[in-house]
Amino acid sequence: MDRGAAIEIRDVFKVFVARGDRHQRRAFLALRDVSLTIPSGRFVSFVGPSGCGKSTLLNMMAGLVRPTDGEVQYKGLSVDGINTDVGYITQDDNLLPWRTLQENVEVALEFRGVPADQRRERAARYIAMVGLSGFEHHYPHELSGGMRKRTALIRTLIYEPSVVLMDEPFGPLDAQTRVILQDELLRLWEGSGKTIVFVTHDLVEAIALSDEIALFSRAPGTIKRVYQVPLGRPRDVFHIHADPGFPEFYDRLWRDLKEEIVDVVLEAT
Ligand SMILES: Nc1ncnc2c1ncn2[C@@H]1O[C@H](COP(=O)(O)OP(=O)(O)OP(=O)(O)O)[C@@H](O)[C@H]1O
Ligand SMILES: [Mg+2]
Repeated sequence: MDRGAAIEIRDVFKVFVARGDRHQRRAFLALRDVSLTIPSGRFVSFVGPSGCGKSTLLNMMAGLVRPTDGEVQYKGLSVDGINTDVGYITQDDNLLPWRTLQENVEVALEFRGVPADQRRERAARYIAMVGLSGFEHHYPHELSGGMRKRTALIRTLIYEPSVVLMDEPFGPLDAQTRVILQDELLRLWEGSGKTIVFVTHDLVEAIALSDEIALFSRAPGTIKRVYQVPLGRPRDVFHIHADPGFPEFYDRLWRDLKEEIVDVVLEAT
């Protein structure tokens, strides 16, 4: 075990058995022989073709799915139940529609028995950090897509998990809102010492945010390569294309990813 590892994935395989007619049950290999170390305090992104098992691997880190073979360790211990230590921001923001923005942000603190006045004070601080002051009493349906994503982000960060899993958190947003949220995320993360595992289909986003990028092969997914992002910090996400390290690294990553996607498209035709 690497001493500085937040998460260690060792020789993981995952077979899903499709439900339905008994005689038509089919085993489906989703992940094959995945090994990866996520060092503590690093920002690590997963990129790869749709269906290659990225979300499945996050679910394993959160203890929601078990490997068929191999092991996932969290801070040196095997994950064998729901891992309540991680913060998990899923693709769907899952805000509670009957609660206001502020009540959604406070929910995890409520579960942890934090007194109401402390909850309020902390929620106000986080709400202000992402520019949502004044919207505390709005319900989710009264918020824009970007505001909902911000709410989902601070709802997890407010209880200060040391490891945060984020599954395409900015996926459905327009390009401008997306870059603004990337910038906010980096400012919340930098200097925090937190480990972030971030899934995205957007290579520019992966490069702009990450220290390391794990590229998955097409299904059954395995890790094809891990890259160290050759860009300094702090990052300027608004002008990331102008960073001297960007163009060459982007081309290399895209070339390697394209091999996985183009083959799938050709096989399907
Ligand atoms: N609970 C499940 N039961 C059966 N098959 C599943 C289950 N969860 C995932 N799979 C299958 O495993 C494969 C990997 O799924 P996963 O959601 O991890 O992919 P992904 O890389 O996150 O894809 P995307 O980029 O589209 O989100 C897919 O073929 C999916 O259908
Ligand atoms: Mg997914």
